[in-house]
Amino acid sequence: MENQQAPPSELFYNLKPLSTNKIPSLVTIDSSVSSHPWKPDQFTEVCTVNGTHGIIAEKPEGCIVGFVLGRSVADEFEITKIAVAEACKRKGIGSRLIKAIIKQASSSGAAHIYLEVGSKNTAAIKLYEKNGFYTQYTRKKYFTNNSDDALVMSLKLR
Ligand SMILES: CC(C)(COP(=O)(O)OP(=O)(O)OC[C@H]1O[C@@H](n2cnc3c(N)ncnc32)[C@H](O)[C@@H]1OP(=O)(O)O)[C@@H](O)C(=O)NCCC(=O)NCCS
Repeated sequence: MENQQAPPSELFYNLKPLSTNKIPSLVTIDSSVSSHPWKPDQFTEVCTVNGTHGIIAEKPEGCIVGFVLGRSVADEFEITKIAVAEACKRKGIGSRLIKAIIKQASSSGAAHIYLEVGSKNTAAIKLYEKNGFYTQYTRKKYFTNNSDDALVMSLKLR
């Protein structure tokens, strides 16, 4: 007989397009895990602007465990935020979200994707590198709250 063991329940989640009524959950996750969290108004502004793409990772019962936001600008695509709830990190959710947004960027016709990441954010940098991004240049003392440098990373799509 085939071994069809069910995965642990915490691994069950679906990727879905973002709807604006979910923004409060995004704010909660972002403020708990990001070193540069956005204010609720910033989420509303970014999520309602034309060209924005948002994907959430949601458990079957409706609990959001992660999200990624991006936007198309001419033939470029910028990933503006990605975050995974603390308790759900290192389970492959960030990877699935990144792969999904890369696919959307590609479908939107973008030639490349870019993003900014804190130079000390090893987890995110490794995630991006694993998915083909490379560092284009460094913006010195970019972040106002801690003077950290930012890496501008990009991925060529065509
Ligand atoms: C970055 C982040 C989204 C990764 O999400 P995640 O679901 O934990 O990522 P995954 O489980 O898919 O990990 C994918 C790969 O990323 C790398 N990675 C993730 N977390 C890491 C960590 N703490 N240290 C080192 N590498 C890490 C690993 O290479 C990992 O692959 P592996 O598990 O096979 O070794 C998550 O840590 C997060 O929400 N961080 C806070 C918000 C943030 O910094 N966002 C980025 C702003 S630019």
